[in-house]
Amino acid sequence: MQDLASTNPVKFVVTADGLRSLGRHVHRALGSRHVGLVVGRRAYKLAGKHSLSSLRKAGYDPVLFELAEGERYKTLTTVESLWSRLLKSGFDRSSALIALGGGGICDLASFAASTLQRGIPVVQVPTTLLSQVDAGLGGKTGINHGAGKNLIGTFWRPSISVMDIKVLDTLSDRQMRSGMAEMIKAAFLGGEPFWSRFIKRMELIYSRDEKSLLWSVKKCCNIKARVVTIDERETLALGTERGIGDEPGRVALNFGHTLGHALELMPGIRRLTHGEAVALGMRFAARIAWELGVCEIGLIKQLEEVLDRAKLPKHFPKVDWLDVARAITVDKKRRGGPKGYILWVLPERIGKVKLVPISVQDIHSRRFRAVYENGGKN
Ligand SMILES: NC(=O)c1ccc[n+]([C@@H]2O[C@H](COP(=O)([O-])OP(=O)(O)OC[C@H]3O[C@@H](n4cnc5c(N)ncnc54)[C@H](O)[C@@H]3O)[C@@H](O)[C@H]2O)c1
Ligand SMILES: [Zn+2]
Repeated sequence: MQDLASTNPVKFVVTADGLRSLGRHVHRALGSRHVGLVVGRRAYKLAGKHSLSSLRKAGYDPVLFELAEGERYKTLTTVESLWSRLLKSGFDRSSALIALGGGGICDLASFAASTLQRGIPVVQVPTTLLSQVDAGLGGKTGINHGAGKNLIGTFWRPSISVMDIKVLDTLSDRQMRSGMAEMIKAAFLGGEPFWSRFIKRMELIYSRDEKSLLWSVKKCCNIKARVVTIDERETLALGTERGIGDEPGRVALNFGHTLGHALELMPGIRRLTHGEAVALGMRFAARIAWELGVCEIGLIKQLEEVLDRAKLPKHFPKVDWLDVARAITVDKKRRGGPKGYILWVLPERIGKVKLVPISVQDIHSRRFRAVYENGGKN
């Protein structure tokens, strides 16, 4: 049977009007509804007023739900308090939520929307570069659990995602670099000619050049939307060996994330942003790919040059490999029980990744330790 969702394209719009057209886009997607604006504190200060006034102009009377931002608040406790506030304010199945903030707020607000009364619509308004090219579209919601990042979550497609590049003017350089890592990932997956055109414009993107931002955010969203449309629930690589090899589907978007997620929550090291962790994860995946004969050495150099130019971290944090290996093997991408394997997304060439099953035992091996500690044979 054909999955209806897969024939239904992901809806998003990339604008540059400081969210003045937000109300119009929301209305097109939701019609008239009781809406709640779930907003990160920072995003509220920066973009709350414009968003509220645009929503009011479109006929909405939004209820405001301000939340603390940051990975440590992306928890069930925050969701529970949001559920309570929503129910107290009369939110029901005829209502909808609009999430305004970085990826953390988008993930959390859409998780709350997907579970409130078995699911109410959500509109994503991502305000960081990272969330505009990644977290804000695709419909994965999530909260963290003591055992790992994003371990609890749902698939809940936003009615529309509205990315306004003007809100990026206030983003710190570090957060721009974090978003750049996900852009590099998308460009890698998108392949040529986008890859070469994109890397030529990286500096323009950092300087918030409007034309370059509009072009590149749209392109990266298109790349993600295409993958999500063919494999919305990440089932292509599930269960059977069918997904191993040529048809990774949505799992391809996890390029850099296996090591990345482990480093992001690793205690005792300098806190990494999501993008910094993903950049290190892509460097590591390329080195492992070379070790296992999946890619040529030239690919490592090509990828590392781009990550260096983007001023993303070069060195793996000084922490015992066994701790990293342990964190990796609790990752939700582990298959086949505790002694099973991880499906690692390894780069083969620009535009092509391969899913390679790597056993928990191999991950704990000296070979992997050597790649982490010395960069492997390279
Ligand atoms: N659901 C998905 O498919 C998906 C994909 C990628 C990442 N994620 C999740 O997204 C999160 C990371 O997202 P993020 O990088 O946006 O981090 P974030 O949400 O923590 O935001 C980073 C910081 O930027 C600030 N901020 C937000 N908008 C701003 C603006 N316009 N100007 C200035 N500061 C602003 C916030 O206050 C915060 O301090 C992680 O939790 C990750 O797991 C989800
Ligand atoms: Zn990511």
